[in-house]
Amino acid sequence: MTSLSDIRSTFLEYFKRQGHEVVASSPLVPRNDPTLMFTNSGMVQFKNRFTGVESGPYQRATTSQKCVRAGGKHNDLDNVGYTARHHTFFEMLGNFSFGDYFKAEAIPFAWELLTKDFGIDKSKLLTTVYHTDDEAFEMWKKIGVSEDRIIRIATDDNFWRMGPTGPCGPCTEVFYDHGDHIWGGPPGSAEEDGDRFIEIWNVVFMQNEQFEDGTLKPLDMQSIDTGMGLERIGALLQGGHDNYETDLFRALIEASAHATSTDPFGDQNVHHRVIADHLRSTSFLIAEGVLPSNEGRGYVLRRIMRRAMRHAHLLGAQDPVMHRLVPALVREMGAAYPELGQEQKLIEDTLLNEEIRFKTTLDRGLKLLDDALVDVADGADLPGETAFKLYDTYGFPLDLTQDALREKGRGVDTDGFDAAMAEQKAKARAAWSGTGAAADAAIWFDLADTHGATEFLGYETETAEGQLVALVSGTEAAEAAGEGEEVTLIFNQTPFYAESGGQVGDTGTIRTETGEARITDTKKAAGLFLHIATVTSGTITRGQGAELVVDPARRGAIRANHSATHLLHEALREALGDHVAQRGSLNAPDRLRFDFSHTAAMDTSELEQVERDVNRFIQQNTAVTTRIMTPDDARAMGAQALFGEKYGDEVRVVSMGDAPTGKGPDGQTYSIELCGGTHVARTGDIGVFALLSEGASSSGVRRIEALTGQAALDHLRDRDGTLTRVEGLLKSKGSETADRVKALMDERKALTNEVAQLRRELAMSGGGAAAPEAKDVNGVSFMAQVMQGVTGKDLPGMIDDMKGAMGSGAVLLIADADGKVAVAAGVTQDLTDQVSAVDLVRAAVAELGGKGGGGRPDMAQGGAKDVTNAESAIAAAEAVIAG
Ligand code: ALA
Repeated sequence: MTSLSDIRSTFLEYFKRQGHEVVASSPLVPRNDPTLMFTNSGMVQFKNRFTGVESGPYQRATTSQKCVRAGGKHNDLDNVGYTARHHTFFEMLGNFSFGDYFKAEAIPFAWELLTKDFGIDKSKLLTTVYHTDDEAFEMWKKIGVSEDRIIRIATDDNFWRMGPTGPCGPCTEVFYDHGDHIWGGPPGSAEEDGDRFIEIWNVVFMQNEQFEDGTLKPLDMQSIDTGMGLERIGALLQGGHDNYETDLFRALIEASAHATSTDPFGDQNVHHRVIADHLRSTSFLIAEGVLPSNEGRGYVLRRIMRRAMRHAHLLGAQDPVMHRLVPALVREMGAAYPELGQEQKLIEDTLLNEEIRFKTTLDRGLKLLDDALVDVADGADLPGETAFKLYDTYGFPLDLTQDALREKGRGVDTDGFDAAMAEQKAKARAAWSGTGAAADAAIWFDLADTHGATEFLGYETETAEGQLVALVSGTEAAEAAGEGEEVTLIFNQTPFYAESGGQVGDTGTIRTETGEARITDTKKAAGLFLHIATVTSGTITRGQGAELVVDPARRGAIRANHSATHLLHEALREALGDHVAQRGSLNAPDRLRFDFSHTAAMDTSELEQVERDVNRFIQQNTAVTTRIMTPDDARAMGAQALFGEKYGDEVRVVSMGDAPTGKGPDGQTYSIELCGGTHVARTGDIGVFALLSEGASSSGVRRIEALTGQAALDHLRDRDGTLTRVEGLLKSKGSETADRVKALMDERKALTNEVAQLRRELAMSGGGAAAPEAKDVNGVSFMAQVMQGVTGKDLPGMIDDMKGAMGSGAVLLIADADGKVAVAAGVTQDLTDQVSAVDLVRAAVAELGGKGGGGRPDMAQGGAKDVTNAESAIAAAEAVIAG
C-alpha cells in the first residue's frame, strides 16, 4: 500500500524533476493576509507573487501545505467526523508557476503524474473546464480524454477565487469515478453531490485579480496554482474513498481506540474520527504557538479541542485522552513536519491542561443541558439563553452544544443566543462606565462592540498584516488621516504589545498602500489595542490592509528584561526568603525595575548571590515555555501570582530554568509565573544580567534596578573604565587598588585630625597675634575671638579647651573659612543659671546675617553669612551677659 508519506514525496519529487523548487509549508497563521484566520490553501503564501507585488528567486514551486478550515469563511468543523472527506486540518499538495508555464504544461503535468506516477486508470478519470475555456478543452482532448468526459461548467465551481479580493481565474478539475455501485452523478449534474464522482485536483489558471469594487482585471502575467488534497488522493490510491480509512488516519484511530479501550470501528468510529482529525489541527496550531483563549484564533483552537474532548467523553473516557495520542501523531507526521516533534511537550501539556479543566465543567454542563431539555417541547430548539448560560458559565462553545444536541435531533435558537450575548456585553459596559473612567472611554466600547477585541499575534511574531478597522482622532472616529496627524489606530490583529503587567507598549511602524505611520506607544482599552500613531507620509484610510512592524531591537531588549525579571524574582526568594513578593515592576527597553516586599537593605553578599543566580540560569540557556491554565492549577504548580490581582478564569503561565529542587509538575522548574508579557525563547537570549542599584522604595518595599544584554555590558564596561583610570592614578592593580584607597582614606583622616589639633593649639596661643584677653562683664569673665581658616566643626573642641583653661567664664568664637561663617559659644557649668550659651550665639548670629542657633546652656552653635560685623556680634553677646 502506498502510504500518505510516500504519496506526498512522490508528488513533490515529480515536480522537482520538472524544475520546481520544493518550498516548505508556510505557517497556519498567515503572515501576509490579515483577512484570513488560517491558511486554507497552498496559494496563500504565494498570493503576492501572483499579483506581481513580490518577486522571488524561483518561478516554479511545489509544496505540501498545512491547511486549517475551521472558523471564518471556510468552516468545516460541524461536519467533521460525520462525512468521508471533511477535515479541520488537511494537507494540500500543489504546483505553482509564477508567470512561467501556463495551461499547455500544467494540464500534461497533472495528467502524467496521475496516470503514470500514481498509476490511476485513465478510464476512471474525467475533467471539467470553465464553459468558455476552449483552450483547456482542446488540451484535454489532445491528451486523450474523450470529449464526453470533458465537462464544461458555467458556474463559479470552475472559477476559483481566494476571497472577495485577490488573484483568481478559471480552473480545470480532475474527477475520479468510483463506479456505479456508489450513488452520485458527474459534475454539473443534479446528483453531483453524491460520492461516486470525487474531485481530486484543481488546476487554477491565475490570470485575473478581483478588486473590492467588484471589478475583475487581467493580471500582467499568467500563472498556475493547483491544489490536491493529500487525504483524498491517499484514499483513492489506497483503494477507497473514505479519507479516514487511509493509513495515517487508521493509525490515529487505533491510538484513540487504544487510549480509550474502545472498538475502533462500529458505533464508536465517529468519535474516533473526530478525535483523529481534531488531534491534527490542534497539535499543529499549538506547535505554532497558538494557545487556547477566548478570542480569535485561540478560541477556534479551544472549540476544536473541546469538541474532541467531548467525543472522548462520549467514548466513556474517565481520564484525559488527547495528550496521550500525540506520540502517534508525531510518529505519523513528525518526519514531514519537524515542528511537531520539537513542540511535542508543549502540545501534550496544553492538551492535558485543557482537558483536565474542561472535564470538571463538562459533566455539570451536560447535566444542565439534559435538565433544560426536559422543559423544551419535543423537537423544539433549545432556548438561546440556556445555550448562552452553558457558554458563559461552563465554557461550552455554541457549536459544542449544537453537537451534543445533534444526536438528539435538536437545534439551538441561535438568535436567542446572540441576543443573550449582546445583553451581557451591554451590562459589562454599563458597569464599566459606572466606575468613573475617562469620558472618552465610550468610544472604545462602541468600537469593541462593532469590531470585536483585537487579536494579539505578538507572542509569535513581530511583523504581521492587519486590517485597519478604525481610526480615532481625539475621541472621534475618523475615516482617514494625513501626514503629520496624530491618531489612534485599531487593527483586527496586531503584533504590537499593549502596555500591561509592567511591560511597556511596543513602538514601530505601520504601512498601507497609501501611507505610513510611526507608532509611538500601544495601550489597551475595552479589549482593543490602541496604536498611538503619527502619520509620517501619505494618507491612511479605514478599511485598508496594513503591514505592522514592531521595532525589533527594542522589543528584543524588553523581552530580555522581562524574562530576567522572572529570574530575579526567584533569585530574591532564594536569597532572602519566601516572604519576597512582587510589589511592582517595569520592563522597559533600557532597564528593568523590580519592587518587592522586604524590610532590610540587602548586603553585598546577598546582592552578589542574586546576580550570580540570575546569570547562572541565563547561561543554562534552557527553553522558556508558556502554557494556559486556571489560576488555581497555576498556583498548585507553585506559580508566583500577584497578591490581590484579579485573574480571569484562565492565565498564561511562563516557566523557565531547570533546577533540580524546583517546582512544577516535574519538580524541576526554577521560575513559574502568571504572566501575559512577551519573553525570550531561551534564557540565554537574555545575554547577561547586571544589578544597578538596590534601595528603599516605600515602607517595607525594596527596589532593584538592573540591566540585561548590551545595556548590562555597556554598564560593566563603563565601570571597568572608571576602575582602570583609578588604578592608573593610584599606580596599583586589581584588589590592591581597594587597599590603596582604604590606606589613603585612613591617612587622610589622621591628617585631618592632626590639622584640627594644630589649629586649636594655634588659636589658643593667639595664632601669632595676642591671645584674646578675658574681659569682665557683669562679673563674668568673657572671651571672644574671630578665627580665620577654622571651620565650624573645629569650634566645639576649641570652646571646651578654652572653658577648661578659664575655669569659670563665657566664650564666643566666630570661625570664618571658605566663605562659611560659624559661631559657637560656651559657658562654664557654674554660670549657666546666669548666662545661656544659646542666647550668646543667637545674639551674635543675628549680627552676622544669620538666623537662629541652638544647643545647650553650656554649649551652643549657629551658622551665619558674613564676618564683616564680627565686632558688633561680639558686642551683642557682651550685651546679653551684661543683661
Ligand atoms: N487554490 C486552489 C484551491 O484551493 C488550487 O482549490
